[in-house]
Amino acid sequence: MNKKKIFYISTPIYYANAKPHLGHLYSTLYADFVARFQRTQSKEVFFITGCDQHGSKIAKAAKKNKTNTETFIKTNTQHFLNLWKLTDISYTHFVETHNLKHQVFVVNVFNNFLKKKYLYLNYYQGLYCSGCESFLSDEQLLKDQKEEKCLVCQKKPIFLKEKNFFLKINDQDRNFLQKLFQQWKKKKEIGHNWTNSLNELLKIPKLDLSITRCRVEWAIKLSKQFPKHTAYVWFDALWSYISVLTTEERELIWKNNDSQIVHVLGKEITKFHLVYWPLFLEKDEWKKPDNFLIHGWILNDEQKMSKSIGNVVSPEEIIKKYGVNVLRIFIASLIKPHLDIKYSEELIENFYRTNLVNNFSNYIHRLLIMIEKYQPDFTQINKLKKQFQVKDLIWKKQLQTFIDQYHDLFNKFEISQALQIIFDLLNFGNQMIEKEKPWNLAKEKNIYLNFFLFNSLLNLKIVALLLKPFAISLSKQILKTLNLNNDESFNLDLNWETSFKLEKVVKFFE
Ligand code: MSP
Repeated sequence: MNKKKIFYISTPIYYANAKPHLGHLYSTLYADFVARFQRTQSKEVFFITGCDQHGSKIAKAAKKNKTNTETFIKTNTQHFLNLWKLTDISYTHFVETHNLKHQVFVVNVFNNFLKKKYLYLNYYQGLYCSGCESFLSDEQLLKDQKEEKCLVCQKKPIFLKEKNFFLKINDQDRNFLQKLFQQWKKKKEIGHNWTNSLNELLKIPKLDLSITRCRVEWAIKLSKQFPKHTAYVWFDALWSYISVLTTEERELIWKNNDSQIVHVLGKEITKFHLVYWPLFLEKDEWKKPDNFLIHGWILNDEQKMSKSIGNVVSPEEIIKKYGVNVLRIFIASLIKPHLDIKYSEELIENFYRTNLVNNFSNYIHRLLIMIEKYQPDFTQINKLKKQFQVKDLIWKKQLQTFIDQYHDLFNKFEISQALQIIFDLLNFGNQMIEKEKPWNLAKEKNIYLNFFLFNSLLNLKIVALLLKPFAISLSKQILKTLNLNNDESFNLDLNWETSFKLEKVVKFFE
């Protein structure tokens, strides 16, 4: 039986307290590029994204907006759905944590933990940031001269004391985590810095996590026995990675050692994903994630792009000016694990001019104009390939190297470098034009011109195929220009046979 391998990827689920901005799109596109590439590798891909709809932060925002909370989350969730449609996000499952299916799942886990005596009641006190829905440690506090602020969202934390349910984290759990960190340390994507700082965290004497709240009403109610207690937003949200699936899918992915599970996340939520989430999973008997793609923030004016700071950039505006292909390719070029990235209008404009107009579009245009002008004859191409066998071999070897590098980089989740291979291919094509001087070949009526143009078109076909995960309609458009179907297969076979006839010379960007 030829069963497809399972590949699971998720984005964090986004707080439904406002419209999405470029920072959210960055996280989602990161996952989309990987998901689309994995599909070309014939994997069965599960791609999860969605909205985190509970918590005091959302209830407060709804109140400020003078809207009923239920309507408020629906409207904001719809904004996310609209943006994902506009930007070609190929998710397969969309989480809404206010849905009953999800709530029931979380309540079941809570009851299960209670039954297994993993939980105990105790007082919790400390500085709480409602922006991040998290108690803050000393390192997470920005100590201004006048007041303390949360380092991530700049909000003033509040002092909280309440009786909550705590998840016990004992020595056995610490050992379990230490072993996991040891394994993850070997993964380049996660990086030593994170695993080292997580190991430091394990040295804290008491790690127990409070997983319920008494003052947060807009949250999952846990049990009639404890009517005041609602689920802590992180205990609620993390489970959505599983709850959104069907029972069969849960088994197929989260109980199966052969599946590959990858989470994309911003650096500020590492602790929840790399410490608490695996612990939850272990205690509820699920497989642990295989990898984490941790990214930095998009900065605008040197600060994290964020609604609370008020420096957000709307993806819709960029799309209006440049279109969705440009935005997707631009974001792909920015993706750098762990590091923050500066955004500015100038940056996208430069990227567009240099890479897309001057390089990408001009190359294709130049090639198509030559095809139109020289009207090459490809009927004898097999004979020509034999005649110029050595040149053909060298050319194909070069193409194969690009293709292999691209796969290798994508398999290592090196998105911006995989994209760079496409630009390298275009440069190679340009260099070949400069070297072989087709205008001279035409003057000489040299049949080598046919061979040269044929292989240049093969170059372009590979460009279009490698573009598939990045720019969907652009890839299709180029394939169409080459009279090729955009079938779902990723046929990178270099022994191309074509009776290509150019219909029209097009310019892709100007
Ligand atoms: N709801 C939680 C996640 C729960 S996952 C079980 C949350 N939501 S969030 O809306 O605040 O952030 C979601 C993701 O968006 C995070 O990975 C975060 O890093 C990312 N981004 C939000 N602003 C960003 C930038 N300015 N730049 C890059 N990513 C950013 O945390």
